[in-house]
Amino acid sequence: MKKIYILLSLLILFSSCKNSSKNNSEKSKNLILTQKVDSLLSIMTLKEKIGQMNQYNGSWDVTGPPKDSTSINKVAHLEQGLVGAMLNVKGVKNVRAVQKIVVEKSRLGIPLIIGFDVIHGYKTISPIPLAEAASWDLKAIKKSAEVAAKEAAASGINWTFAPMVDISRDARWGRVMEGAGEDPFLGSKIAYARVKGFQGEDLSNVNTIAACTKHFAAYGFPEAGKEYNTVSVGMPTLYNIILPPFKATVKADVKTFMNAFNELNGIPATADTFLQRDILKNDWNFKGFVVSDWGSIMELEHHGYATDNKHAGELAIKAGSDMDMESYAYIDHLEELVKEGKVKEALIDDAVRRILTVKYELGLFDNPYKYCDLDREKQVVNSKEINAAVLDMAKKSIVLLKNEAINNQKLLPLKKEGQNIAVIGALANDKDSMLGNWRIGADNNTAVSVLEGLKKYKDNTITYKKGADVVIGKTFFYYDTKINKTDKSGFKEAIEIAKKADVVIMVLGEHGFQSGEGRSRTNLDIPGVQLDLLKEVYKVNKKIILVLTNGRPLTINWSEEHIPAIVETWQLGTQAGNAIAQVLYGDYNPSGKLPMTFPRHVGQIPIYYSHKKTGRPTPLPDPAMVFWSKYTDVDSSPLYPFGYGLSYTSFEYKNLKLNKTKISINEEINVSVEVTNTGNFDGEEVVQLYIQDVCGSLTRPVKELKGFEKIHLKIGASKTIYFTIDFELLQFYTANNKWEVELGDFNLWIGGNSNATLKTSFKVVK
Ligand code: BGC
Repeated sequence: MKKIYILLSLLILFSSCKNSSKNNSEKSKNLILTQKVDSLLSIMTLKEKIGQMNQYNGSWDVTGPPKDSTSINKVAHLEQGLVGAMLNVKGVKNVRAVQKIVVEKSRLGIPLIIGFDVIHGYKTISPIPLAEAASWDLKAIKKSAEVAAKEAAASGINWTFAPMVDISRDARWGRVMEGAGEDPFLGSKIAYARVKGFQGEDLSNVNTIAACTKHFAAYGFPEAGKEYNTVSVGMPTLYNIILPPFKATVKADVKTFMNAFNELNGIPATADTFLQRDILKNDWNFKGFVVSDWGSIMELEHHGYATDNKHAGELAIKAGSDMDMESYAYIDHLEELVKEGKVKEALIDDAVRRILTVKYELGLFDNPYKYCDLDREKQVVNSKEINAAVLDMAKKSIVLLKNEAINNQKLLPLKKEGQNIAVIGALANDKDSMLGNWRIGADNNTAVSVLEGLKKYKDNTITYKKGADVVIGKTFFYYDTKINKTDKSGFKEAIEIAKKADVVIMVLGEHGFQSGEGRSRTNLDIPGVQLDLLKEVYKVNKKIILVLTNGRPLTINWSEEHIPAIVETWQLGTQAGNAIAQVLYGDYNPSGKLPMTFPRHVGQIPIYYSHKKTGRPTPLPDPAMVFWSKYTDVDSSPLYPFGYGLSYTSFEYKNLKLNKTKISINEEINVSVEVTNTGNFDGEEVVQLYIQDVCGSLTRPVKELKGFEKIHLKIGASKTIYFTIDFELLQFYTANNKWEVELGDFNLWIGGNSNATLKTSFKVVK
């Protein structure tokens, strides 16, 4: 029966294909696609349509169905064509098994789309996204997404729930590890690169997968940094800060969006028509589909926005959520809602059209098993090519925070021979934590540890003692009780090896499971007894290199004050230890720059470089006067500003020039600056351009990133870097609720971080 229907629709399609076989234009391709989708839709029952909008989780095992606690028989639903997508089914054998059920048993045999959280790698794990953002290297970031897609696709997956493009200025929020940091300009560039990496130029290619921009919207602005918490932000913040990276992914032709758990200004995002229909589908003309976040439709009831799950389903579909992930609201209630006249079938048709279109674009109708090739899985997963890309990304993600000389001698890079090195810290010998939080496709304990990486340099002597555990017991469900806050029994032997060492490397920080979803913290100090250990070791040997590993900015004032060398390594994934060793030994000169401000104190949060001026930005003439914008107990400046990061070499900026100092709204200005490598190593620098719109119809940030370029310079070499300032860069969402450039004065800085001092200015005139 099913085959007849498919044949029927193929016949309709064939004629349209023939007609346009010579016409390769985008338009005719789209037309054919629309015809294919429409002809399939026309033979679907209402129930089957709703089935396409239903996504189930399946911890699938080749030998059997998912062991879920729900009473729903998911296998029966697959057989009846009542499931459009699955998540968390991985591996060729398992994916083939579920696909086979729908293809062979359901009436129409519409293939499933198989989703998975390929957040920073699938089996071979790349650095956490916040770390990748620290590279400011769009090519490497795109490549990282590309190899992740290739590896996931080889394992049967064809849809990733990434990139997460939520801007956040609150390091208490555990999910900052999954985003690109605090800035919408950098965030937009990275979001675009990641979508292009996952999806490639041709989605039907067997190495590419559909991307999913999430979480729409404002999930990164929860009150007090508390997970899933209320978000209240005004339109200027929404449009100027939160939305740009989302919009950038629509420009990159992202195929799907995920909505969010949070409410925004009183309306849960999953039920928000303004976000999903007005902005995304109408203003931005997004043609893909929107999937709910996990259970976020049923959570409308918990928010107190829907009376029950049926009402939740009604609100969600009306607002534009096309697919229900694990809320059972659509599968249980949509048919009834349509029959009662509460939901128009046209809304269902629109959602299903969007879903089927992505399935066609992936090529699943041509071959539902195209991602299910066991040989390819064997060849691709964990391949050399993927490990090489991940290693490259990991090196580029490392940020050198401090490298001061002791007795005229900098500790970094390390001497390659004749050194007695003490390595201390439980995270130094940890092969798991470095995989970070989102590594559900990876095997546990598969990262190269720092100790393993260091031991590859054989001409130094290494001794290792952990000193103290970071966490005690099983770590996946991290709770504060798992942090070692008392056991210092290992301190003594660590101190002993430190006494005898020429240099001490201490690897400290957060465990991989201490950041991520549901892992908000109120205290951002290095957790547990680790800081005490650092202080004790410092008493016996000051030549310490602190290697930090963490999923978010931490408060490390004491370390900044005392420790001569500090290296931020985040959680770098499978190749972590190799990347860290190569940077410490100078085989790669660190080039990362912070994508998020590091506070001095958690009380400064939210802290970000592009803050507003306020009415009282500077000290009053009498410094004792209290009435200006500051803290009285802590220096208000950040510990490390956005865009900051050192190199083993140094760079000088000069000759900042503009080709004009006055432009009209539609004109451009060419900016140039000369950068010279003035140190003793070849190296890379991220040249950053910031602009200040001095006075606006709405108050404007003190500065905003509007351009950057990562360059490589040999020792002594100079290069002139060019930027163009145009309408796109100068506009903002003004008091007229429009994107406009306003007339007036602008300041411009170029340098190696957001505190750049090389400055010029220009005017936009009538
Ligand atoms: C997260 C999403 C994720 C989904 C599926 C949710 O808890 O918020 O980002 O894609 O689970 O795993």
